[in-house]
Amino acid sequence: MPEKALLLRNNPFVGPGPKRPADGQKSVKAIISFYKSSIGKKWIVALTGLVLVGFVTGHMIGNLQLFLGYEALNKYAAFLQGLGELLWIIRGFLGVCLIVHIVTTALLWIQNNAATPQKYAVNNPQAATIAAKTMIVSGLIVVCFLVFHLLHFTALYFHPDWKLWEDPDGRHDVYSLVITGFRDPLASGFYLLGLFLLCMHLSHGIQSFIQTLGVRSRKIAQPLTTASPYLAGLIFLGYAAIPVACLLAQHLNLPILQPLAH
Ligand code: HEM
Repeated sequence: MPEKALLLRNNPFVGPGPKRPADGQKSVKAIISFYKSSIGKKWIVALTGLVLVGFVTGHMIGNLQLFLGYEALNKYAAFLQGLGELLWIIRGFLGVCLIVHIVTTALLWIQNNAATPQKYAVNNPQAATIAAKTMIVSGLIVVCFLVFHLLHFTALYFHPDWKLWEDPDGRHDVYSLVITGFRDPLASGFYLLGLFLLCMHLSHGIQSFIQTLGVRSRKIAQPLTTASPYLAGLIFLGYAAIPVACLLAQHLNLPILQPLAH
C-alpha cells in the first residue's frame, strides 16, 4: 500500500476508523465475562448466599418473639405487613437472590463437571465433609421446605380460616396460627428436617464463602471457618426451639404457648 494511503488509513481524524465499544458496552461485557468465569460464579453464589443468611438470621430473631407472647409477635407481624410496597421490594430482592443463587450454583456445577475446576481464591484443600458433599441435595430439600413453609404460614393454603384469626387488639393472630401449626407432629417433623438440612447447608456455605472471597488473613479465616458449624448450629437451635416448645406446651399442658380462643 502506498505510504500516503497508509497514513490516511491510520489517521483517527480521517474517516470513521474502526468502531470502538462505548464505555457502557465495555462494562456490560466485563460483567458477562466475569459471570462466565468459574470464580465469578462463585462470587455471585457467595454474595447472594450472604444476603440469604442475613434474612435467615433476622427471620429467626423475629420468630423468637413467640416466646414473649402474642402481643410481641403479632405487633412485629403487623409492622412487617404495614411496610406495604417496601415489603414487596424486599420480597422481590430476596426472591431474585434465591433464584440467582440456585441458577448460578447449577451453572457452576455443570461448568465444574465439564472442565478442571478453578476452585477458590484461596486454595485450602480439605477433606470434604458430609455438609460439603450434600450441598446440592440439602439445597433442593431446603427449597421444598421453603415452598411448604410459604403455603403453610404465609399463604395459609392448608387452613384458609386462619386468615380471619385476630387477637384482642384486632391484629392478625400470627401467634396462635404458628402454635396451632406446630401442634401437628408431621408438620413439626418436616420443619425439623428442613431446618437441619438448612443448617448443614449453611455450615458449609459459610466456609465456602470465606474461601471464595479470598479471606487470606489466617487470623480471620481460621476462626471464621472453625466457627461456621457453631453459627449454623445456633441458627438450628433458635428455629428448632419453636416447634419443639409448641409440641411440649401442648402435651405437658404448660401455661405458655397456648393459642388464643377463636
Ligand atoms: C420455626 C421456624 C419458622 C417459623 C416459626 C417461621 C414463621 C414464619 C411466619 C409466621 C411467616 C409469615 C409471616 C406473615 O405473613 O406475617 C413466615 C414467612 C416466611 N418465612 Fe418463615 N418461619 C420459620 C422458618 C423459616 C426458614 C428456615 C426460612 C428460610 C429458609 C423461612 C423463610 C420465610 C419466608 C421467605 C417467608 C415469607 C416472608 C414474607 O412473605 O414476607 N422461614 N415465617
